[in-house]
Amino acid sequence: MNLEASAVEKWFLRGKSGSNRFFAVRKTSLTLESGKVCVLTGRSGSGKTTLMNMMAGLLTPDGGKVILDGQDLYAMPDDALSRLRNRMFGMIPQGADVLPELTVMENITLVQHIYRNRAGSAFSAEAEEGGAGFSSERCEKLLEQMEISHLRDVQAKELSGGERRRMCIARALAGNPKFVFADEPTSDLDDENTRIILSMLRQAADKGCAVMIVSHDAEAEAYADRKWRMDAGQLQDI
Ligand SMILES: Nc1ncnc2c1ncn2[C@@H]1O[C@H](COP(=O)(O)OP(=O)(O)OP(=O)(O)O)[C@@H](O)[C@H]1O
Ligand SMILES: [Mg+2]
Repeated sequence: MNLEASAVEKWFLRGKSGSNRFFAVRKTSLTLESGKVCVLTGRSGSGKTTLMNMMAGLLTPDGGKVILDGQDLYAMPDDALSRLRNRMFGMIPQGADVLPELTVMENITLVQHIYRNRAGSAFSAEAEEGGAGFSSERCEKLLEQMEISHLRDVQAKELSGGERRRMCIARALAGNPKFVFADEPTSDLDDENTRIILSMLRQAADKGCAVMIVSHDAEAEAYADRKWRMDAGQLQDI
């Protein structure tokens, strides 16, 4: 299964009067394929997160399309896109995006529980059919693989940076997504944490996921099938 961006672009307004268009991403086409890890590098501010968010259904492009199985993501109604994202996409956002008062396990399962418990909604019907690919066994296994099983009932605010990051990877993989988007998943981490995280993402691809990693980490490139570089909003194959 492929996710295809076709001539996507994004601009923001800049300048004193806010009248200058600044292109964060210039017309870009790319395809994410099942089984492949793609690594996107580039200088700070070059448009990597903006591009990844457009691929992940989180940011509407100002031009172009993002197509999954013939469906244009941004032509879908909001609730259908949310449902698709919950079922198919796993996101590891840049920065620590955790609920500090909740435990590790609660952080990992929260979104899935919300979807299940919205009684009568299309979300809960789908979760009941097992469409989300989520189960407590799967979560336990992910905790083990990320080597944080012993922290399952610890509040997220007590975790170290590396532990928190590993929790975010487990959360992204909990719904058994077809596409995983990881924005700087190893920044500021030691070699051991970096290795655990990159090999987990590699394994997800080997099991059929399409993985997109934004990274400054040279090590990430060793796990890549495909490498791109972003330069002032322009994507280059390397
Ligand atoms: N919501 C926004 N409004 C205005 N400008 C934005 C917005 N989001 C991003 N930008 C600008 O677009 C450019 C690209 O931002 P983006 O976050 O994609 O960069 P990046 O390559 O991910 O950088 P980093 O490596 O620092 O994370 C930056 O110059 C940023 O200031
Ligand atoms: Mg970024």
